[in-house]
Amino acid sequence: MPNDSRPAVLELIGNTPLVRVSRFDTGPCTLFLKLESQNPGGSIKDRIGLAMIDAAERDGRLRPGGTIVEATAGNTGLGLALVGRAKGYRVVLVVPDKMSTEKVLHLKAMGAEVHITRSDVGKGHPDYYQDVAARLAQEIPDAFFADQFNNPANPLAHECSTAPEIWAQTQHDVDAIVVGVGSAGTLTGLTRFFSRVQPNLVMVLADPIGSVMAEYSRSGTLGTPGSWAVEGIGEDFIPSIADLSSVRHAYSISDEESFDHARQLLRAEGILGGSSTGTLLAAALRYCREQTEPKRVVSFVCDTGTRYLSKVYNDQWMNDQGLLARKPYGDLRDVIARRFEDGRVVSVGPDDTLLTAFQRMRLADVSQLPVLADGQKLVGVIDESDILLGMQEGASNFRLTVASAMTDKLQTLPPGASLAELRAELDRGLVAIIADASGFHGLITRVDMLNHLRRSLT
Ligand SMILES: Cc1ncc(COP(=O)(O)O)c(C=O)c1O
Repeated sequence: MPNDSRPAVLELIGNTPLVRVSRFDTGPCTLFLKLESQNPGGSIKDRIGLAMIDAAERDGRLRPGGTIVEATAGNTGLGLALVGRAKGYRVVLVVPDKMSTEKVLHLKAMGAEVHITRSDVGKGHPDYYQDVAARLAQEIPDAFFADQFNNPANPLAHECSTAPEIWAQTQHDVDAIVVGVGSAGTLTGLTRFFSRVQPNLVMVLADPIGSVMAEYSRSGTLGTPGSWAVEGIGEDFIPSIADLSSVRHAYSISDEESFDHARQLLRAEGILGGSSTGTLLAAALRYCREQTEPKRVVSFVCDTGTRYLSKVYNDQWMNDQGLLARKPYGDLRDVIARRFEDGRVVSVGPDDTLLTAFQRMRLADVSQLPVLADGQKLVGVIDESDILLGMQEGASNFRLTVASAMTDKLQTLPPGASLAELRAELDRGLVAIIADASGFHGLITRVDMLNHLRRSLT
């Protein structure tokens, strides 16, 4: 078998397609999306993974047997792991804990070592992901700290690949580019290239609400950072490599709007992007619709949505986060995660087997199920401990009916009960059953209550 020194997959990085947005109202403008999701590692960060490793090899900071260390929201890690592992390096990554499970699983599957750290602390805190990575890089022998936030190979990758590709693909006819800022490598690289070839080009910033970038680019003032759920873009400080000189507009986009636009893009155009793609699309559409003259505008599908299937594209998660619009009642029905009236209750029938109940719990990732006769009438509740108790004579009891193991003496709470009554019910170790004369509305677990309280945090 041939063992080329340079893995062939690396040739697939870059040269991503540019596609016209055809099913959204773009005002007088034409909007194109560059599908960075088509890179072999699934994101725009493959480009810098390759560039930073190549540069470090060239200048001797990375030698055979060495270790690549990085702080990353996931995609840079995937790019570094793709290139680094293919070239035989150890890859150690520090990832904040808000990142999607899919990214972490993907990193581990590629053979990277993943350290999860807190996402609720800022620069200077010992648990801040970049500080943890810097520390690890000092401790590990022969470590190369990729440090995308300060590494000149990061913006250079975009100056030398992303930007000239856009220039060629638009036939040298482009008026504005809409970008997000993570490390600012994309923004800075594009700005450098276009200030040479098309100095009138306008950079438009798409920033999550809570990030300090948009306000800083508008007024030069550094606000207090908040939090946001979109991954990969938005910052709580101004990256040292950020060149904001061509930024003429900045839009702050809410998580709701970002996630909604990512979902719309899939439904309308069949393009499966990540959460930040929703931010960029929302900002790009706002910019396009505000124009009075036709403009040619480019933005990005920064990464593939397959790594957000458990989040952006999962209605239950969206609900738990309060990111899907639901009918509000102003009573306990607002706390129910899976409302019967919305058709979201996962249930079993009394004649189903315990095996069915167990498998349904695993699939829905819940610990109890309501038992509904004819899919309508609440006759009991079954939880994991009921199933386990039913197993006393061995695994063959999985064939017993749900009716034989469920709890049928049900304490219910009406939707109008108070939060204190709900809390008392949960404190007794029970799941709260919300029902009244009109029927069963849904269950409330401790997690549902916690999600409800978290949603009320501003
Ligand atoms: C998921 C994701 N990663 C990275 C980037 C670009 O980040 P950087 O500023 O680090 O080049 C974007 C930009 O929109 C993004 O959406």
